[in-house]
Amino acid sequence: MARSKIALIGAGMIGGTLAHLAAKKEMGDIVLFDIAEGMPQGKALDLSQCGPIEGFDAAIKGTNDYADIAGADVVIVTAGVPRKPGMSRDDLLGINLKVMKSVGEGIKNNAPDAFVICITNPLDAMVWALREFSGLPHNKVVGMAGVLDSARFATFLAWEFGVSVKDVNAFVLGGHGDTMVPVLSYSTINGIPVKDMAKIKGIDEARLDEIVKRTRAGGGEIVQLLGNGSAYYAPATSAIAMAEAYLGDSKRILPSASYVQGKYGLDGLYVGVPTVIGAGGTEDVIEIELSDEERANLTVSVDAVKELLEACKALDSSLA
Ligand code: APR
Repeated sequence: MARSKIALIGAGMIGGTLAHLAAKKEMGDIVLFDIAEGMPQGKALDLSQCGPIEGFDAAIKGTNDYADIAGADVVIVTAGVPRKPGMSRDDLLGINLKVMKSVGEGIKNNAPDAFVICITNPLDAMVWALREFSGLPHNKVVGMAGVLDSARFATFLAWEFGVSVKDVNAFVLGGHGDTMVPVLSYSTINGIPVKDMAKIKGIDEARLDEIVKRTRAGGGEIVQLLGNGSAYYAPATSAIAMAEAYLGDSKRILPSASYVQGKYGLDGLYVGVPTVIGAGGTEDVIEIELSDEERANLTVSVDAVKELLEACKALDSSLA
């Protein structure tokens, strides 16, 4: 059987990390695409030379030509620019929206059967725009945010409780960013609800609230520390988990920015929800019961996503 093919659009910090992870895991052959000339070719050469040391078999190619992504099974998109000092949210939106247009067309023309995972920010708007520009079915285009956000939440909970991260199952909903909704009622430590575990460990609600706030601001905390650029190890690891669920038809339930029609009171919107990922792409969205407070928080998050979509439509009339 032919190896799977994984195309990475954007060969920057996350793109390079994705390529390294995919190669180490022997997920398939890898194409690193970027508009920057030489850079994806250089990274591909460097990564290829890990092969003899790590012992992986993977063809890794760097390119500036979309034709090289032809036949990709999975496409992971990180193309774009990060927000820089002095740049408004709208400036960023305008630039990355144009990038999504060219990437969407590149995918439509060369890899229309792929499962597409978008990472570019602002995530919930960019995944929607990428779907619109590519014209792929909604179940084949998904955004990576929830796996990362819940990993951040799980990390902080594990530290707080002094337990292994392996035993923490942390749950987040909603848009990626300040309005995301960490859901404590569905977060557990090896099956023990977090709130019960907090009582056992003598941790009060105020402290749990701090952890929720730190999770929401998790990306910004890393941006500040790095001083130049944003997180890349955990974002790449998260997208790889989603790609593996698709390629392995695992039916994993992963929090993902999926197209929601009908559930959660939504009428056709990309937002973070528990999603079954298998060979059919995003095969199902699981609608959980929410408390009044959680539902209100989700509404705030959904409204923020809707506002971004309106801004996108104002910037590009083909989306209206
Ligand atoms: N087509 C293809 N690649 C592009 C395009 C384009 N139109 N425009 C920019 N790029 C490339 C850049 O040349 C760069 O190599 O996208 C790459 C982005 O890489 P980095 O700047 O290193 O950014 P990274 O840290 O990988 O993050 C990428 O993910 O988490 C989000 O906010 C983050 O939107 C950002 C994205």
